[in-house]
Amino acid sequence: MNEQDIDTTTPNVARVYDYYLGGGANFEADREFANKMLAILPEARIAAIANRRFQGRAVRFAAQQGVRQFLDLGAGIPTAHPTHEVARAVHPDAKVVYVDSEPIAAAHGVRKLSGDERAISVRARLQDVDEVIEKAGELLDFTEPVTVMALAILHFVPDEEDPDGILARYAAATVPGSHAVVSHATAEGAAGMRTAAVAARYTASANRSGHLRSKERFTAMLTPYELVAPGVVWTKQWRPDDPVEAEDPEASAMYAAVGRKR
Ligand SMILES: C[S@@+](CC[C@H](N)C(=O)[O-])C[C@H]1O[C@@H](n2cnc3c(N)ncnc32)[C@H](O)[C@@H]1O
Repeated sequence: MNEQDIDTTTPNVARVYDYYLGGGANFEADREFANKMLAILPEARIAAIANRRFQGRAVRFAAQQGVRQFLDLGAGIPTAHPTHEVARAVHPDAKVVYVDSEPIAAAHGVRKLSGDERAISVRARLQDVDEVIEKAGELLDFTEPVTVMALAILHFVPDEEDPDGILARYAAATVPGSHAVVSHATAEGAAGMRTAAVAARYTASANRSGHLRSKERFTAMLTPYELVAPGVVWTKQWRPDDPVEAEDPEASAMYAAVGRKR
């Protein structure tokens, strides 16, 4: 990581999200921005935690379907229960490639994974599909099923960059039996107007623009996959371990789905 890559004075989505989750890899500008967002949308913290919990349940599910390889796009700063730990509770030999465009997230990943021969962290943009597949191919075997993960990241991709097409290209690079684990922020639901206000502030102040999408749009993105029950739901509602976890589902502010490639 080059020093000049790191701007600690502009709020950064990876570090703001880390702060929502109670992590320590954030700076004053991130905390100040996050606290302003929490004043508008106190659910942001609940939403981040619910999203991570969905991720854990979905990775465990995919592993239980026999998938041993994971491509975690926009993985973020490594935090509690990262993908390789969850997957290896099912398959101790599971392999994971973490991808993030932010130098700080990729660098934390490299540090955390040093010495691990079955997990790597790569700095790349998920839009650069060929580059990501090529780098991931140094560890993953794309002739075997791979779980492609895109959690809380596609809402940073504008329509002009074709998020549907990007997801379709990742799906095309994988064999039948592969899975997708995806979540996406929305302005639908009880907190919708306040979520939209937060997205507008991300666009104005942080280093990423927010693009909230409807359940219908999100479902259309998942066309390359056959959705696993219960289909597209709020993150809190996707196969909760305990029914209490699914209470107040709209506080999730994000839709979730798991798909299987036919
Ligand atoms: C809200 S965090 C989500 C982290 C993790 N996927 C999760 O759901 O817990 C979004 C992450 O996506 C990364 N990101 C944003 N745009 C990206 C892009 N175009 N390519 C790769 N990563 C990106 C950010 O740096 C950040 O770490």
